[in-house]
Amino acid sequence: MSTLQKGEALYAGKAKSVYYTDDSDKLILLFRNDTSAFDGEKIEQLERKGMVNNRFNAHIMQLLEDNDVATHYVELLSDQECVVKKLDMIPVECVIRNVAAGSLCRRLGVEEGLDLMPPTFEFFLKNDQLHDPMINEYHIRSFNWASESEIEAMKALTFKVNDILKQRFDEAGLLLVDFKLEFGRFKGDIVLGDEFTPDGCRLWDKDTRQKMDKDRFRQGLGGVVEAYEEVAHRLGVELSG
Ligand code: ADP
Ligand code: TMP
Ligand code: ASP
Repeated sequence: MSTLQKGEALYAGKAKSVYYTDDSDKLILLFRNDTSAFDGEKIEQLERKGMVNNRFNAHIMQLLEDNDVATHYVELLSDQECVVKKLDMIPVECVIRNVAAGSLCRRLGVEEGLDLMPPTFEFFLKNDQLHDPMINEYHIRSFNWASESEIEAMKALTFKVNDILKQRFDEAGLLLVDFKLEFGRFKGDIVLGDEFTPDGCRLWDKDTRQKMDKDRFRQGLGGVVEAYEEVAHRLGVELSG
């Protein structure tokens, strides 16, 4: 049991709130029920989503730690909260795609469902006002968002996460279509931050290709939290209630 004391709010994002603690190296992440899409244009409260995502994220972060990926995750605190290391976040989103979907189809005119071999890697700037524009390594260097070695570390870690999770989801009958990761600095090292949940990735049932991720919300398909719970269940994530 953690004895950490929750302090002032540091930041309220679209789906999570971040709190200081009495340990200057640690923060508390609160997973809210808010669900947003299209850079915050569409927002709804979905009952249980905060708990499901918090517990799902804890499971995935632990799996990654067990596979030697350094993450910010420290421990679960409650149904909707976990303790993380306080990172100096890099304002860049790293996306790997195993199958074409989403903005890749819109940008390149390819059909959803096309297998991508090798998988593609893309950087986006984390900036809702600018609608998270796609950037490349030169932008990251020129604007000094990260150093060359930090860029290499983010890329290598994102591919490593893909190898680990693609296999784990496959075992659970799910296709990891694509996902987004965020990284930050902790005492000189590049560490995986933020979250890995169905809010930030695409997961399809392997046999039926049914969507089991936030595309259900984006596309108004319904059954959003039910799909997240099914994914959690298949992975053996313990949920409460
Ligand atoms: P957004 O900012 O995109 O609306 P969230 O609602 O998920 O996203 O808010 C969580 C915020 O916390 C994000 O901006 C994320 O970059 C930041 N964050 C996540 N993990 C950490 C961490 N370990 N240290 C500092 N900031 C973090
Ligand atoms: P995209 O197809 O919209 O570019 O998204 C690719 C993947 O990244 C998808 O799994 C959703 C995730 N993603 C986020 O989690 N947050 C974002 O702000 C963006 C742009 C993508
Ligand atoms: N992450 C962005 C949002 O929450 C974009 C998206 O998921 O569609 O609005």
